[in-house]
Amino acid sequence: MKTLLLGSTGLLGQAVAREARRRGLELRDAARRGARIEVDIADDTALRALLDAEEPDLVINCAALVNVELCESDPTLAWHVNARPLAFLAEWSRTTGGRLLHVSTDHYFTEGGAAPHAETAPISLVNEYARTKFAAEAFALTAPNALVLRTSIVGIRGWENPTLAEWAIGVAENDSPATLFSDAWSSSLDVTAFARAALDLVEAGASGLYNLAAREVYTKEQFVREIARQLGQNLTATTIGSVHQLSAPRAHCLGLDVHRAEAVLGYKLPALTEVVASVLQQYKEKSSHEVRHIASHRNA
Ligand SMILES: NC(=O)c1ccc[n+]([C@@H]2O[C@H](COP(=O)([O-])OP(=O)(O)OC[C@H]3O[C@@H](n4cnc5c(N)ncnc54)[C@H](OP(=O)(O)O)[C@@H]3O)[C@@H](O)[C@H]2O)c1
Repeated sequence: MKTLLLGSTGLLGQAVAREARRRGLELRDAARRGARIEVDIADDTALRALLDAEEPDLVINCAALVNVELCESDPTLAWHVNARPLAFLAEWSRTTGGRLLHVSTDHYFTEGGAAPHAETAPISLVNEYARTKFAAEAFALTAPNALVLRTSIVGIRGWENPTLAEWAIGVAENDSPATLFSDAWSSSLDVTAFARAALDLVEAGASGLYNLAAREVYTKEQFVREIARQLGQNLTATTIGSVHQLSAPRAHCLGLDVHRAEAVLGYKLPALTEVVASVLQQYKEKSSHEVRHIASHRNA
């Protein structure tokens, strides 16, 4: 299956690329820089030309502007990267019959604390990131062959600015002072498990909207404490804080109910301890060479 992967250099894109290669898919990897195909998906002429030139069987969209503050300060850019390209990808899918896998977000829920939210739960769009991601879902779902996955992910990326997991490992290893949010819930899934399950759903022929996340809802504080526990480290300098301290408004009750995906997959998605074990495994496996290579590429 010829697969065009948009956002291949990012946190999730790297993991999806690994899983696609492991399965023997014919992979075309794309990002604005550092990938074999360089494309800006905000440029619809370039995006459509790429689809025409590559003629993929499957397009996986892991490209996005995920910085919530940047989306807030530049809503036009957020719209052009997160939402508008999905109209063209859906049009491509409708007209060619090609499969489209679009990665969405869990950033839609402000009520419910630690309760998991089903695909049908009412949503609340509190910032531009959420608004543009929700518009993207609507565009994508105009294509009958589209699979849209709501998720939250954790993992190792190797860029200069750390992911949540990279930051948490640093805090635990150095026993650094840090504020841990006890009122921000999610069911973040490690990117390795996400990539495997997402491609299993594609193979199973799933389409429409699915939650794909861990099977357990937990706080950011619990995540960092579990990282420290599995590393055998004590956290003596951390304090507890609130997600509402951040400048851009945040949805914070982000747990996802994954029963629908598990029914198709035929297996259970990981719980917190397994998610953290996988993240730490990725951290060990990722050689410092690879981390340096990607970081220098990003900084070029
Ligand atoms: N990280 C999270 O906690 C989280 C949580 C829930 C959902 N998600 C969703 O998961 C997906 C992947 O997120 P991620 O964390 O892997 O993001 P990431 O690490 O920031 O990676 C984003 C990728 O998109 C590419 N990209 C950005 N703008 C682009 C553009 N205009 N044209 C082409 N490529 C572009 C980036 O490469 P270049 O910058 O070089 O182009 C990079 O490859 C997104 O849909 C996101 O909304 C993420």
